[in-house]
Amino acid sequence: MKPMFALGLLACAGTAMMSLVPTETTKNEAPAERTPVSELLISLGDSPQKHYIKDIDPKKVALGEEIVLKGNATMADGTRSPKVSEFFVCTDCHNIGPEAPKPLDNDPEVRLRFAMDNNIPYLPGSTFRGIVNRTGWFNGDHIKKYGDLVKPANHDLHNAVQLCSRECSSGRYLEDWELEAVMHYLTTLQLTVGELGLADNEMAQLTNPADKAAAIALVKSRYLDAMPATFLEPLPLEQRAMGLKGDVTKGKFIYENSCMHCHKENGVTKTVFGTGKGQKDATWLASYLPKSNGGSIYYICRKGTSPKKKTPQYMPIYSNEKLTDGQIEDLVAYVSKMAGKP
Ligand code: HEC
Ligand code: HEC
Repeated sequence: MKPMFALGLLACAGTAMMSLVPTETTKNEAPAERTPVSELLISLGDSPQKHYIKDIDPKKVALGEEIVLKGNATMADGTRSPKVSEFFVCTDCHNIGPEAPKPLDNDPEVRLRFAMDNNIPYLPGSTFRGIVNRTGWFNGDHIKKYGDLVKPANHDLHNAVQLCSRECSSGRYLEDWELEAVMHYLTTLQLTVGELGLADNEMAQLTNPADKAAAIALVKSRYLDAMPATFLEPLPLEQRAMGLKGDVTKGKFIYENSCMHCHKENGVTKTVFGTGKGQKDATWLASYLPKSNGGSIYYICRKGTSPKKKTPQYMPIYSNEKLTDGQIEDLVAYVSKMAGKP
């Protein structure tokens, strides 16, 4: 049985955004599925995060959404604000919805299956869904790419957004109003209680718990507080299966929903994959497989490229969490098949 919705009102509020915040706490009832996780945690006595926004402003949400999806926003006088980046929008590298059945699932095979089932992109950046619930950003090996730049971003979401707006997007820092708008928008993408996959008995433990610290810990145990990132070296030549091992169906999906996300016609890069004039086809890609340079799928997925003055569009590194060596083999199997090999 679903618990009675103590906070049902806010779930029903159609326009949704106005207030995600329960106005009064009702006793003896389990939290509603639509209750934002941050509100539940605060009601259990947890301190709000630094970037916590209590009253979400729909106007700011709309501006922030435009900045994230389109790179700039429509101003009150109808003009467009200057772009954050000439080259990228955030969703070139980040999804905005869930990437796995549960927010704790981070196994790349589970995420790939979920992406295939839901036909969503499979990208090098982490999803913005639940990004405000995390307590750390640019974790793990990102320090290897961005060096000291990540330090201010590791525990401050505002700084993480700014780092990515400028560095990952080959763009600029957001102005205060833009940052605020983006934060209002990201706050609407926060996790809700219903997504955590809590069993009925666990939901009951969240209802007026005697041990609030235990209840907080239970909630926090159901999502990742930081996205791990492991950078790998390109597979050495003798370990490359060259298309003999991978799963072609998965490889096709990765090609179409990861690589082509950027390498399509009129995408972020002039390096277009396809059979048209000036495009790089599967035979071209396959010819580089034994190499250890930028043409080789084995190499470039692990090393990416760096923004250059003339071509600030660069290719991000795929960490092992976003593309495993096995998934690279899947991709290689598909590319080899397209190329009529082996
Ligand atoms: C060209 C690719 C690219 C673009 C464009 C991009 N990002 Fe990122 N971003 C990344 C990668 C790669 C990471 C590190 C991996 C990750 O997300 O966990 C990252 C990380 C982040 C993080 C920290 C995530 C975490 O949980 O550690 C934030 C916040 C972020 N980006 C915000 C933005 C915003 C806002 C924009 C648009 C203004 C943007 N990014 C555009 C590639 C990109
Ligand atoms: C976020 C955008 C993005 C994604 C996703 C992406 N790439 Fe790229 N890739 C680029 C950009 C931009 C360049 C061009 C870099 C340059 O010009 O220096 C590039 C360059 C390359 C090159 C080098 C081409 C050459 O002419 O030497 C290869 C090969 C490549 N990508 C393969 C892939 C594969 C395979 C995938 C999927 C696993 C992929 N890319 C996903 C943006 C992306």
